[in-house]
Amino acid sequence: MTDPVSYTREGEIAVLTVDNPPVNALGHAVRKALVAAFDRFAADDDARIAVLTGAGRLFLGGADISEFGKPPQDPWLPEVIDRIEALDKPVVAAIHGAALGGGLEVALGCHYRLAMPGTKLGLPEVGLGILPGAGGTQRTPRLTGTDAALALITGGKPVGPDKALEMGLIDRVGEGDVQEAGQSYARTLLADGAGPRRTAEIAPPAAPDKGWDEIDADLAKRHPGEVAQRHAARAVRAATEMPFDDGMTEERRLFNELVDTPQREGLIHAFFLERKVSNLPELKGVEPRPITAVGIIGGGTMGSGIATACLLAGLSVTLVETSVEAASRAANTIAGNLDGAVKRGKMNPTQRDAVDLTTTTEYEALSEADVVIEAVFESMEVKLQVFDHLDRVMKDGAVLATNTSYLDINEIAGATKRPGDVIGLHFFSPAHVMRLLEVVVADRTAPEVVATAFALGKALKKVAVRAGVCDGFIGNRILSHYRSAADEMMLQGASPYQIDRALEEFGFAMGPSKVADLAGLDIGYMTRDRKGRDSPGIVNPDWADRLVEDGHKGRKTGRGFYVYGDDGPTENPDVAGLIDTARKDAGVTPRDFTDEEIVARYMAAMVNEAARVVGEGIAKRPLAVDAVKLFGYGFPRYRGGPMKYADMTGIATIRDRIRGYAEDNPEFWQVAPLLDDLADKDSKFEDMNT
Ligand code: 3HC
Ligand code: NAI
Repeated sequence: MTDPVSYTREGEIAVLTVDNPPVNALGHAVRKALVAAFDRFAADDDARIAVLTGAGRLFLGGADISEFGKPPQDPWLPEVIDRIEALDKPVVAAIHGAALGGGLEVALGCHYRLAMPGTKLGLPEVGLGILPGAGGTQRTPRLTGTDAALALITGGKPVGPDKALEMGLIDRVGEGDVQEAGQSYARTLLADGAGPRRTAEIAPPAAPDKGWDEIDADLAKRHPGEVAQRHAARAVRAATEMPFDDGMTEERRLFNELVDTPQREGLIHAFFLERKVSNLPELKGVEPRPITAVGIIGGGTMGSGIATACLLAGLSVTLVETSVEAASRAANTIAGNLDGAVKRGKMNPTQRDAVDLTTTTEYEALSEADVVIEAVFESMEVKLQVFDHLDRVMKDGAVLATNTSYLDINEIAGATKRPGDVIGLHFFSPAHVMRLLEVVVADRTAPEVVATAFALGKALKKVAVRAGVCDGFIGNRILSHYRSAADEMMLQGASPYQIDRALEEFGFAMGPSKVADLAGLDIGYMTRDRKGRDSPGIVNPDWADRLVEDGHKGRKTGRGFYVYGDDGPTENPDVAGLIDTARKDAGVTPRDFTDEEIVARYMAAMVNEAARVVGEGIAKRPLAVDAVKLFGYGFPRYRGGPMKYADMTGIATIRDRIRGYAEDNPEFWQVAPLLDDLADKDSKFEDMNT
């Protein structure tokens, strides 16, 4: 194996380069090699200054995240950084691409820092459920002041070089090539007679503008349920109140506490699955078809959002609607979305001016599109007409995609003469905001069409997840099951509001009744019509249907489970009476539920149906379910997803719970075969991810 840190000399300048693709993570081998390379620099009498750089596309991507939770191996990163800082010859960090987490902490231990334009400098550790644990909480405030350090560390968002310079995090913004810029800075420093300049020797920074209690309360409010941000602020507080070495000890103590939390485990699981889920072994070597022009059919909620997402990615879009008025409405919605994106800095004004959007009523305008995405009403009849039309106008090799939520894509594909080109691209609302994209692969979809769908997902910066065809694919199928568990609890005595509160406390962005109001209660009504109202074991929520029949469809009509006034949602007083009637009709005597039982039942239903989805191959790996729920359904990221939750809770425990619930409703609560199998083998979902 080649040495991950190389040492060369350019005259009096030692150049140390970390080369550990793909992101120069500071794993054990790199830490050891860094110590060896700096020892060599210390002993090299001909070297008067060192420049530390990273090979490839970035400086240092941080600690090796896969090492967390495993026994630590010497040397620790804080020790490596202390060694660099203590050298009696100066060291320059020449940074390009990114210096993140431990990577930035290494730079802060160097004596001088230069960053190239476009570099991302940040301490994103809180996003992994930890805090900067190699001196970042102690050195950053010494350089930037406490307020700026708190923002960088508790926010986790990187800054660019100009901002970093303004904050005092770096000394210079370079020009041209990073090696050249680093060495030129080193020569200037030598000429100026500059010596080592140790961040640790700067006096402790002043207290922040706000009091620590207020900061803690703000963080608790901004990151409900999460612990890392508040712990990180405590470590920064130590920097303001203690000498450097004691601050480092406190940082280590708080860091170790976080490493031991389930949140750290959940967040790191989420980090890796986000990258793994779109990486499908069966697509290795399969070339996607090129995509520059996208057609969209239907410019309603979804069509307009999908068009916006494509335009934000620089693709050209032709959108077909049924009338000139509808086409112009869609164009206005898209324009509003794009203007919003410019305001939020997601697109610059030049890109905004250059967007290539055509709205029309003519299908023939799609003849040159590389992919078309249908987003018309959820009706098989309408979709079959649309695909028949597309089959006639689209060029050979174009991908024909449907955004259907539930309909059978095999049937849609079968209605064309090119079923190999047909695929599901299931976006989530608002489509230009939500990260999830379910790529629904039908029986006859060609591999290069699947590869093209994943390439499109990447271009749109989505988390693309492969799903198979079934009613609701991965996400909506599982949703309908845990939604039923919530309905069953309502019938048995829990109020929709207690259920929402318990699940929001667990970490969901919204409880199920708020979600139903947001999606529109008519959607659930229509789904029940389609599936039939007497599915075995399923509680039919009469109360929700009564609301719809009275014209209350949730948020869009201002009234559903909640009443939507100017001061936000309040409980709808009519709902209790409607549920009471349903209980009486069903002969149910209501009982109390604890919040714990609500969460346990809801999660058991989710995990059980997810196990069926994986067992049937609708999701190929458990991590696909986790990705779907994290990126499309408001599942708390710090819990890693439902399958991770199941692994951490214990598969056998969940099976026992389901067996217990089956006493009330044996048809609904049948243990999924895969869950049974894993529990018997004392195995985990995680074992199926590799
Ligand atoms: N450790 C281990 N693996 C890492 C890693 C890290 N720090 N960062 C990225 N990787 C892996 C990814 O899992 C991926 O693996 P794969 O190809 O097998 O799926 C591969 O490297 C490439 O990563 P990306 O696809 O994310 O590459 P990009 O070019 O899109 O992004 C990046 C590069 C901006 C560096 C991005 O990878 C990133 O944000 N990484 C995490 C940075 C981070 O959080 N660092 C802090 C770590 S914690 C720490 O330093 C603690 C310290 O305070 C003690
Ligand atoms: P919508 O009712 O807002 O929009 C549908 C649009 O299609 C209307 O503007 C209509 O004029 C147009 N249209 C109908 N027939 C057409 C035709 N033959 N040619 C061209 N345009 C036609 O519906 P929405 O919510 O955008 O849903 C569209 C599809 O997306 C449905 O299949 C739905 O199940 C799916 N979906 C919806 C989600 C949501 O949250 N609304 C989420 C994910 C998928």
